[in-house]
Amino acid sequence: MTKHTSQVAILISGRGSNMQSILADSAQADCPYQVCLVLSNRADAQGLNTAQAAGIPTAVIQHQDYPDRISFDQQMQHCIQTHHADVVALAGFMRILSAEFVQAFSGRLINIHPSLLPEFKGLHTHQRALESGVKEHGASVHFVTPELDAGPIIAQARVPVLADDDVDSLAARVLEQEHLIYPQALRALAQGEIKF
Ligand code: GRF
Repeated sequence: MTKHTSQVAILISGRGSNMQSILADSAQADCPYQVCLVLSNRADAQGLNTAQAAGIPTAVIQHQDYPDRISFDQQMQHCIQTHHADVVALAGFMRILSAEFVQAFSGRLINIHPSLLPEFKGLHTHQRALESGVKEHGASVHFVTPELDAGPIIAQARVPVLADDDVDSLAARVLEQEHLIYPQALRALAQGEIKF
């Protein structure tokens, strides 16, 4: 019997550098997952070009085309299910998801957040880390639950905050780590090493 390769849908809204690191990992011969879909809520997301160039199926579902969050989420759910995704990975996806959507993919929906959760939930994490004077910052991959940035943590990476850091230098140091831990977390999930 051939082993099922876990199918991953990636949701993006912009640059897509995490998506790119996942795509690069999925091209490795020993990778236990494949990317079956890159879905964006913005037609101008840069990551869509990268995905298309890599031959990955892409879709655009624009939130402003739907009367409410529920109908937008239902359309995304339908699209993800049509592509037979086992896992949904949010990678810079900038919309809040309804509890219904989260429930539909419970235990199979993960996100990367640029802070050491539970510190700095929400936006502008690097700015807030600098302002608060923490000596360490980082990134977290976590299961998504209906409460924003609050689900169980799967992986974290720590980086030092340096005296001369600004938002850009700190964000770049964190992003480098994001690109390592997100593929690792997906591998662990695909291999059944972690469960919700
Ligand atoms: C990353 O910092 C990620 O942690 C956050 O949004 C950013 C997305 O960057 N959720 P990219 O689109 O993956 O380059």
